[in-house]
Amino acid sequence: MKVTVVGAGAVGASCAEYIAIKNFASEVVIVDIKEGFAEGKAMDLMQTASLNGFDTKIVGTTGDYTKTAGTDVAVITSGIPRKPGMTREELIGINAGIVKSVSESLIEHSPNVIIIVVSNPMDTMTYLTHKVTGLPKNRIIGMGGALDSARFKYRLSEALECPTSDVDGMVIGGHSDTGMIPLTRLATRNSVRVSEFLSEERLDKVAQDTMVGGATLTKLLGTSAWYAPGAAVSSMVHAIACDQKKIFPCSTYLEGEYGLNDICIGVPVIIGKNGIEKIVDINLSDAEKEKLANSAAAVTKTNGLLEL
Ligand code: 2OP
Repeated sequence: MKVTVVGAGAVGASCAEYIAIKNFASEVVIVDIKEGFAEGKAMDLMQTASLNGFDTKIVGTTGDYTKTAGTDVAVITSGIPRKPGMTREELIGINAGIVKSVSESLIEHSPNVIIIVVSNPMDTMTYLTHKVTGLPKNRIIGMGGALDSARFKYRLSEALECPTSDVDGMVIGGHSDTGMIPLTRLATRNSVRVSEFLSEERLDKVAQDTMVGGATLTKLLGTSAWYAPGAAVSSMVHAIACDQKKIFPCSTYLEGEYGLNDICIGVPVIIGKNGIEKIVDINLSDAEKEKLANSAAAVTKTNGLLEL
């Protein structure tokens, strides 16, 4: 499998590293516009091959998309990250132009590509990619819920004082500080509802901490996080590469599912070799449905800022 990661910044490089270490891809091409930057990151990563035991070939290129020809899965991380105090939505002015140009370059050389969008504001960037490329909707996937769910599990394990491997939970909705919906009602600790262990107040705190998980790290780091975003998107690439049929909450184009139309927003989907194999319709409570509708309204408002 050939993977292209656009953007050699922290998220892109982390994603490339995790993909290489998992050793399921034959080649990873890293693309950046900064002269030599992708080449340097690729060479540095290749010099870990004998230490980390992978055979994946990682190459870098400064903007030469001919090197990406025949890509099976492309990950778009390019664009500016947010600074402390910024919302993801404030990045749209710069990132929309970058994502549009990158998407067009990718499909020019890889018409059968599956694109995973990471750049923020992610739901709107995913929608833009859908409109710009005209690719089938199963081949355009937004990565937000996989990351938010990982943060949700971290907060649950913290509250439960148990290993993260013992908890499961999913975050749906928009990938924004106010729009994401940690499904505390459905979260479990080894198949037992977490509400058996935690009070409603404590679960609300878990949900709130999850929602601002990105902003919390941006405040601590001075820029957006990279390890968990890179790991989250690499797990989705892995699911495609190995046709895992795993469920992830991903931003996908909806045509009536969950009562929503002409929007990309986080809902549970099955990921396999074809990208999004199926949108999974789960029963939401009235409160969850209302939150999703409100989240969708906010995403639609941000989409309205695009010049399509
Ligand atoms: C985050 O939440 C970058 O949006 C990403 O960390």
